[in-house]
Parts: sequence; C-alpha cells; structure tokens
Amino acid sequence: MRSIQSRLTLLFFSITLAAVGVVYFYVAPSLETNLRNQRLSALAVSAAQFSGPLQHALGSSVSKPVVDRQVRQAADRASLRVTLLGISRGTLGLATYTIADSQAVGGVSKLRFGVAEAAARTSHSATGTEAGPGGQVGEAAQPLFFRNKPARVAVFSAPLTDVASNGALIRRRIQEAGAIALLLAILAGYAVSRALSLRVKRLEQTAGRVAAGDFSARFPVDSEDELGQLARALDDMQHQLAELDNARKQFIATASHELRTPIFSLGGFLELIQDEELDDETRRQFVGQVRQQVDRLGQLATGLLDLSRLEAGSLELRPERTDLSELAKAVASEFIPALSRHSSHLRLQLPRGPISTVCDPERVAQIMRILIDNALTHTPEGTDIQVIASRQNGAVRMAVRDFGPGLKPGALGRIFEPFYSTDGVQGSGLGLTIARELAERMKGTLQVESRSGATTFTLDLGP
Ligand SMILES: Nc1ncnc2c1ncn2[C@@H]1O[C@H](COP(=O)(O)OP(=O)(O)OP(=O)(O)O)[C@@H](O)[C@H]1O
Ligand SMILES: [Mg+2]
Repeated sequence: MRSIQSRLTLLFFSITLAAVGVVYFYVAPSLETNLRNQRLSALAVSAAQFSGPLQHALGSSVSKPVVDRQVRQAADRASLRVTLLGISRGTLGLATYTIADSQAVGGVSKLRFGVAEAAARTSHSATGTEAGPGGQVGEAAQPLFFRNKPARVAVFSAPLTDVASNGALIRRRIQEAGAIALLLAILAGYAVSRALSLRVKRLEQTAGRVAAGDFSARFPVDSEDELGQLARALDDMQHQLAELDNARKQFIATASHELRTPIFSLGGFLELIQDEELDDETRRQFVGQVRQQVDRLGQLATGLLDLSRLEAGSLELRPERTDLSELAKAVASEFIPALSRHSSHLRLQLPRGPISTVCDPERVAQIMRILIDNALTHTPEGTDIQVIASRQNGAVRMAVRDFGPGLKPGALGRIFEPFYSTDGVQGSGLGLTIARELAERMKGTLQVESRSGATTFTLDLGP
C-alpha cells in the first residue's frame, strides 16, 4: 500500500465504486419512484375519465345487477379493475365497504382500498399503492357525489408488477455495468500507475548513479509533463554537479601544484645550504630565498584555509555598526612602512562626517588589505594610491585606485579566478578570489575597472 502504483489503483477503484454506488442506491430508486408516480397519475386520469357513468349507479333504487354491470362496463372501458365502495359514517368515524368489484370472485376483495377512505374524507380524488397478494397495486380513488356529498367511491386499480420488474432490471443492468467498470478501473489504474512508477524508478536509478559519482548518467526527459519537468530539473542539477566536481578536481590539482613548487624549491635551497664550502654571502642569499619560499607557503596555506572556510559557508560574519571612514584610516595606516618602501603615497578621499553602516569590519578590512597590497605589488615603485569611501541612499562604497599601468592584457577576465597570478615568485593568486567571495558573503559586489594610468577596485555594500 506504500507504493504510488497500489495507491493509484485503489483510488481508481474507489472512485468507480463510489460512482456505481451512487447510481445504484440513488438514481435507480428515484427512477422507480418516477415510474410509479407516472402510473399513479395515469390511473388518476383514467379514474376521472371513466367514473362519470358510475354516477348512475347511485341511489337506493338501483338494483345490484345493474350496479355490477355498470362497474364492469367502466372496467372494460378503462381496462382496469374497478371497485365501487360505499361510505358509512358511524360512531367510530368514516368507513368504506365494497359494493361491487369488476374482478371480485364471489364478491370478496382482498384489498383494503385505503385511498377510498382518503377520497371520501377529503371529497377529492386520491392515489396510493397497496400490497396485494400478487405484489404492489396502484389505486386511484374518485369520489361520487349525491346531493353534493360523497356517497360512493370508485377505485380504479392495476398491479404495479411491471414497475417493480423494470426497477429490478435497471438494478441488474447497473450491477453488470458496474462490475465491468470496476474491472476496467483496476486495469486502467494499474496500467497508468505502472507507467508512472516505471518513470519514477528510472529517475531514482539515475539519481543513484549520480550519487555514486557517475556524472555521465543522464536523466531521461521523455515528456513535457510534471515528471518530464522534474527530469529536466534533475538533469540541469546533474550538469551543475558535474561542473562543480570538475572545478573541485581542478582546484585540488592547482592547489597541490602551487604547494609543491615552493616545497621543491625549499628542498633545493636546503641542499645547497648544506654544502660546507659555501661562502657566507651566498649562504645568506639562499637563506633569504628560503625565507621567501616559507613566507609564500604560509600565505598559500592561510589563503587556502580562508577560501575553504568561505566555500564551506563556515566563515562566520560578525556584523556591527561601523564607521567606514575610521576603518579606511586604520587600514591605510597599517601600510605606512610598505608605502615608504615603495616610495608611494596613499591619499584618503573621505566625505566629511562618519560613514556609518552595519558590516563585519574585520572582513571589510581584509578586502581593503588585499586591494591595497595588490596596488603596491603589481605597480612600479612610486605609484600613488587613492582610497575613496562614499555613501549613497544607505548603500556604501569603498574603492581602491592606483595610478599604475593597469591590468596585464587578458587578465581582466581571470583575476578573480583562484591561483591566477602574474606575480610568479610571491603571489599565490588567491587574494582577489578571497576578496570577491567575502564581498558576496556580505551581499555586496567587488568590481574592477582598469586602463593604463588608473585601476580601480570598487566594493559596494548594500544598505
Ligand atoms: N592594482 C593592480 N594593478 C595591476 N594588476 C593587478 C592589480 N591587482 C591585481 N592585479 C592582477 O590580478 C592578479 C591576481 O591578483 P590576486 O591578488 O588575486 O593574486 P596575487 O596578488 O597575484 O597573489 P596574492 O594571492 O598573493 O595576492 C595579479 O597577479 C595581477 O596580475
Ligand atoms: Mg594580491
């Protein structure tokens, strides 16, 4: 009962069963009632039409044979059984008694003719049914008046066996049709649900293969219905997963290559340093190289750690109200020694008053350090730098501009890629990747604009 297949089959079956039940228990009985009512109104019409001559059978002077003949004649004309009843009004109330009957053998009638009493009491014609020895009997009673008072009642009756047999026939037909419909419902339900569950099974199998790492598995997009759309969505997801998997493999390959290079170079220098005949000057030079490589390794390790934290989403932001002007001044002052080594000037261009915003100051400072460091590393000595902060409609902007020769040709589209660096010796190529990831984690953007003479990195943080 857990599978879609059995549930759908059961649903088809139940709906059909309910429909058959409604037809059987509601439509069929009401059809039968309609039929019976029609027969009763036909009886009433006949009673009104053929009871006129019976008026002559009223009065005490009319003899019994005459009355009997009149009744028989009325019965012949109407092709119905006709019973003439008298009315007695005693102390027990109104009662009727049979005077003549077109069919009565030996003058005995098995029927009570309750409708006759109703007609006598109301002075109006009445219809009704009564259980007779051979089944239901339909009756229409017509009061006959003598001096404006009902004196006799003529009852026209006929058996309703055909109504009952018609009802039974309808019920039997409904049972037969219902059985066929139920069988079809089960077959159709089974076929439809089987087709659906097969398609779902195929999706599930492909998902299993993808989960096991087989990115060549394809989700079958076999129609445009909901399942087809699901397959398409899964297919898209699988493509993205494949791309991500590729990117991950590439990243690992590049990272290990980047790590291996300084390690090999360290090994090489250490071997050289071990040489006893080395003069002091060269040894000092090699130690310097070793330090450089160790620095580079350290930078790489920190960068990789930062990046992996960012990608894993485990880097926690600590937003607080921050004055960006103050932050810019603080970060710029950290660079005073580096600036003087590079013979550069850093100019702050800040609006009057604080630029108050809510952000993680440590992360914004990290982005600024990356940008100012680049402006110093990738420009010739003496290149000036400008740090600009501004605010518009609640959003804040921080820009680092240098007046160097600009990005190398072809670099523009690649500088945010991990490990892209044109600085072969020192750069790990992770700085801008980390800066952009940080900006995006803070729901901001980091963009670059570069031409010869001015390169500007702009960090925009939303309100
Ligand atoms: N202000 C700039 N002027 C010119 N080129 C730049 C500037 N900033 C970045 N670049 C280019 O973008 C590249 C990538 O910069 P990124 O900071 O990501 O790496 P990196 O500086 O080479 O190494 P590190 O990870 O050590 O910072 C640089 O190698 C350089 O070619
Ligand atoms: Mg850099």
